[in-house]
Amino acid sequence: MSKPLPLILDCDPGIDDFIAILMILAAPEKFNLLGITVSGGNVPLKYTTQNALKACELAGRPDVKVYAGCPSPMMRDLTCESVVHGETGLKGPALPMPTMKAQSQHAVDFLIETLMKADKKVTLATTGPLTNIAVAIVREPRILNNIDQIVTMGGSMLLGNITPAAEYNFYADPEAAHILLTSGKPLTLVGLDVTHQILTSPEWLSELKALENPVADTLVEMLKVHDYDVKTFGLAGAPLHDPAVIAYLLKPELFKGKFVNVEVDLSFNITRGRTTIDWYNKRHLEQNAHVLNEVDVKGFFDLTTDLLSSYGALSSSQKKERMS
Ligand code: RIB
Ligand code: CA
Repeated sequence: MSKPLPLILDCDPGIDDFIAILMILAAPEKFNLLGITVSGGNVPLKYTTQNALKACELAGRPDVKVYAGCPSPMMRDLTCESVVHGETGLKGPALPMPTMKAQSQHAVDFLIETLMKADKKVTLATTGPLTNIAVAIVREPRILNNIDQIVTMGGSMLLGNITPAAEYNFYADPEAAHILLTSGKPLTLVGLDVTHQILTSPEWLSELKALENPVADTLVEMLKVHDYDVKTFGLAGAPLHDPAVIAYLLKPELFKGKFVNVEVDLSFNITRGRTTIDWYNKRHLEQNAHVLNEVDVKGFFDLTTDLLSSYGALSSSQKKERMS
């Protein structure tokens, strides 16, 4: 069996980031999670950090190290998505305030220190605005030598979600996305083209409910009210954007894509943050991203259900307690 993958997750929980964290922590034999770094994004940093801590505690992992990072983008004001995820970023069941604390070290310092001393190349999974990663690269470009791969939820070939033109993570901090796209380290881009195929359904929520474990139950309650995309874009269910990043790391064979050139719009116009994905190589530029465009949807949900089932069914005494 291969050794667990050294992994850092950079995120902005948000409901789908929250699920991504639970997927990682459900597979300790696959991931050696070095730390979770958090930025302002879906909601302000105070809440995204709190939500990352809540996910770790729900998973029974108060040992996980969570680092708060940049509260806002490099060159823009923070645009939140509380309309999607709720005021504090986790619409749905009220989870207890976390007892575990975030680390005192800044996320960017953690990224630089950890990557500079890594004796084995580290995988970066990113599911929010790319501010922390970009600032770390600007401050210490040598960290790129110790990054094995960067798998990023972001971008879109076709329509956007935060604007008609742009996907939220790249819209929130386009300069940060530009720094990664021009870093010389190819990205795997998990954009809306693929995440809008991965939609929750009542049938899948019933499957989760049947797992009879507190983690799955919590996600069912969250996903039941995670209806912004259904109401706004007419999607059949809630798109699981960030979990797709983790599924790719675990089972890349579930996805198909193409190495192409991707540029991000740095203007302050309506096209801000838009990704131009040169699918047919019309511009003959450097292929800086592996853009995913196909996914085995059943395979994704089977994998995710299996991961969440590992949080264990209720013991008989717990079942009796629930029945009373
Ligand atoms: O556009 C979707 C992305 O923006 C997801 O990562 C979601 O959590 C928000 O951060
Ligand atoms: Ca996110």
